[in-house]
Amino acid sequence: MRVRPARLDDLPAVYAICDELGTVAEAEPRTRELLGHVYAGPYVVAPETRSVVVVDELGVAGYLLCATDTAAFTAWCESSWWPGLRADYPRAAVGRAVVDQEVVDLIHAPPAASSRVVAEYPAHLHIDMLPRVRGKGLGSRLIRDLLVDLSRRGIPGVHLDVGSNNARAIALYSRLGFVELERGPDSVFMGRRTEL
Ligand SMILES: CC(C)(COP(=O)(O)OP(=O)(O)OC[C@H]1O[C@@H](n2cnc3c(N)ncnc32)[C@H](O)[C@@H]1OP(=O)(O)O)[C@@H](O)C(=O)NCCC(=O)NCCS
Repeated sequence: MRVRPARLDDLPAVYAICDELGTVAEAEPRTRELLGHVYAGPYVVAPETRSVVVVDELGVAGYLLCATDTAAFTAWCESSWWPGLRADYPRAAVGRAVVDQEVVDLIHAPPAASSRVVAEYPAHLHIDMLPRVRGKGLGSRLIRDLLVDLSRRGIPGVHLDVGSNNARAIALYSRLGFVELERGPDSVFMGRRTEL
């Protein structure tokens, strides 16, 4: 098993993991690439990112995707990522599955932390591991390595958005020193200063 920077040719695998772990199993039929357009693609393509993948003998098995400067990343997405997707997926479409509509809504109104959170914790991350590589300490290691790297770059904090019902992930982030910052309707924004 190894960890390396994410590359453009990892996009199909990264999208597939994002779809598999981000959607409830019975949510079919759905447009499988939609979730990746929001939570995966731009983190591999945009300039202000530090994204890594975990690779084992079967291929890409997980990732930690990080926008190191959320404000710059958001601006890049507005100019270079969302316009094409907004044209391809208009806000309203007849017969669209409910599960797809929820993601299309995000393409038109991307998920974002408050400006206070972004100012204090300028980076943000998404992390997902396929079941075959979970529980081996990898997720913790990737987050710790990220904290060291962000700290070296002078980036003072990192935040993330976790589903309020994802108790195991919340427990992991808490163990790694993340604290609750704000609560949305279904999710919790957590953040951590990068000094260790
Ligand atoms: C959360 C996740 C990235 C952690 O990666 P990991 O490599 O398994 O993490 P570690 O081995 O360093 O730590 C294991 C801890 O992760 C947490 N965890 C969260 N979801 C878990 C899951 N589905 N399976 C196992 N552990 C999970 C637990 O706190 C676990 O500790 P425990 O075994 O004492 O309960 C990974 O489990 C995962 O991808 N889960 C499903 C998707 C997800 O929830 N992503 C985060 C969205 S914000």
